[in-house]
Amino acid sequence: MRILTEPGIDEYALAKTSDHDELLSSLMKETHATMDSPNMLTGPVEGRLLKLLVQISGARRILEIGTFTGYSALSMAEGLPEDGELITLDLNPVSLELARRYFARSSHGKKIKIIEGPALDSIKELSGPLDLVFIDADKGNYLNYYEAVLPLLKSGGIILVDNVLWSGAVLEPKAKSDIAIDEFNQHVAKDERVEKVLLTVRDGVYLIRKH
Ligand SMILES: C[S@@+](CC[C@H](N)C(=O)[O-])C[C@H]1O[C@@H](n2cnc3c(N)ncnc32)[C@H](O)[C@@H]1O
Repeated sequence: MRILTEPGIDEYALAKTSDHDELLSSLMKETHATMDSPNMLTGPVEGRLLKLLVQISGARRILEIGTFTGYSALSMAEGLPEDGELITLDLNPVSLELARRYFARSSHGKKIKIIEGPALDSIKELSGPLDLVFIDADKGNYLNYYEAVLPLLKSGGIILVDNVLWSGAVLEPKAKSDIAIDEFNQHVAKDERVEKVLLTVRDGVYLIRKH
């Protein structure tokens, strides 16, 4: 992933952000040591942003699309109340095995439910209302995920979408994934059902609130 900010800015932001705990730190290390594409993991700055948004919004029921090794799920679960629930969707049994081990070691793991399989199929089985949705799976389906979860989201609920700047490729979209993300962003920008701001945090995070 290309760093979108000036050299040093990301490190500066990290140094001025609350630390993640030992468990998340070792989850991150194990992901980097053992998994392909470890950069898919959101990391500490975005992870703390997710946790804070869960706390600030008072979310109690969260849907995550794209678990990977569980970093963002655990970060958001930290912000949930004790009886809160986070449902997370992924189809990769290898990364889910790692996620499960870390959820079991966390005091917040009991709030998390994994549904293994293609996310669009899993969403069809879910009922609302959801308070917050984090979309972070296959980019070609972003628009489908957005349209599938919007009816399940309560009025005033939040959708967060990761990687919406796609290393800057949205400025001159060429590859299929560049075009899919740019089209998704255009769709959200025009959507009058929601209020939104595209945050230039890390690889871009769309923060969307349903009216
Ligand atoms: C960017 S990673 C998620 C990173 C995670 N949110 C984190 O911060 O650690 C994307 C994940 O989406 C999953 N994925 C891709 N296509 C999927 C699909 N159709 N259904 C469910 N999961 C999918 C991949 O297996 C991968 O683990």
